[in-house]
Amino acid sequence: MIIFRKVKDIRLFLEKREKQSIKTAFVPTMGALHAGHISLLAAAKKDGIFTICSIFVNPTQFTNQQDFTKYPKTIEQDIFQLEESGCDVLFLPSAEEMYPNGQAPTMNYELGYLETILEGEYRPGHFQGVCQVVHRLLDIVQPDSMYLGQKDYQQCMVVKKLIEIIGSKTKLIICPTEREISGLAMSSRNMRLNDEEKKQAVTIYETLQFLKKELKQGDLQKLKEIATQKLSDAGFKVDYVEIADSTSLHIINKWNGDTTLVALIAAYLNEVRLIDNLLITN
Ligand code: PAJ
Repeated sequence: MIIFRKVKDIRLFLEKREKQSIKTAFVPTMGALHAGHISLLAAAKKDGIFTICSIFVNPTQFTNQQDFTKYPKTIEQDIFQLEESGCDVLFLPSAEEMYPNGQAPTMNYELGYLETILEGEYRPGHFQGVCQVVHRLLDIVQPDSMYLGQKDYQQCMVVKKLIEIIGSKTKLIICPTEREISGLAMSSRNMRLNDEEKKQAVTIYETLQFLKKELKQGDLQKLKEIATQKLSDAGFKVDYVEIADSTSLHIINKWNGDTTLVALIAAYLNEVRLIDNLLITN
């Protein structure tokens, strides 16, 4: 695996690949890698293409300074895991390389409704920061395809919209959420949980499964309330428990029995904010 830290160096390298028409697949990450991240690389490898991973803890997408400073950093293990998984290139830029003109936004991405709900509502500005960094990364890497995890459901939809807005030719591929045997969705933030909290955190997945099992045509308000209570009882501070149209992410309060649905949860366990989702219609 070749590691690049400078934009000009990775560009020079990739331009040679572009001239040879070698297909490239890109996996953007913020490091503290786990099997979820590696599954994205494995999917890219399976498609038989040249794989590029980036690690950059992007300051502009954090709405909470403490969350940013406490974001886990495990670069040596990350490099080891990437080598093991057969990743071809790691892009490991500094903030200066990513934002040579400073971190202030240079444009507003018109995300519309998507930015006003769920993560957009609870983390104002978060998706503008995600767009800012993914836009920059796409300009640098110019991949044929980019692999994202369904774990961040709304992010996938935002990035899809970003690709439309900037007219990028990159194909977006969304991969399933990797879970611990307990059902807990793998996340870099899980590293901040102790063993007891990891057990408690499983309630998020259990609540998603409960929503899937109990889903019935008609009013969904009561079901969401019971699910919220389950999480509160297990010691969570709940940001939201929502059910939405899986293609538009419009919040659904009354189900016609037809629309395909996704259930989404965001909740704090002590200081750690966890998110997860599940498609709840068959
Ligand atoms: P990060 O949280 O490091 O996640 C990088 C990618 O891994 C994202 O596409 C995310 O959805 C995926 N991922 C995380 N946990 C997963 C799991 N359990 N199973 C499958 N995929 C999983 O998401 C970001 O970084 C950033 O916002 C980024 C897109 C890199 C922009 O800064």
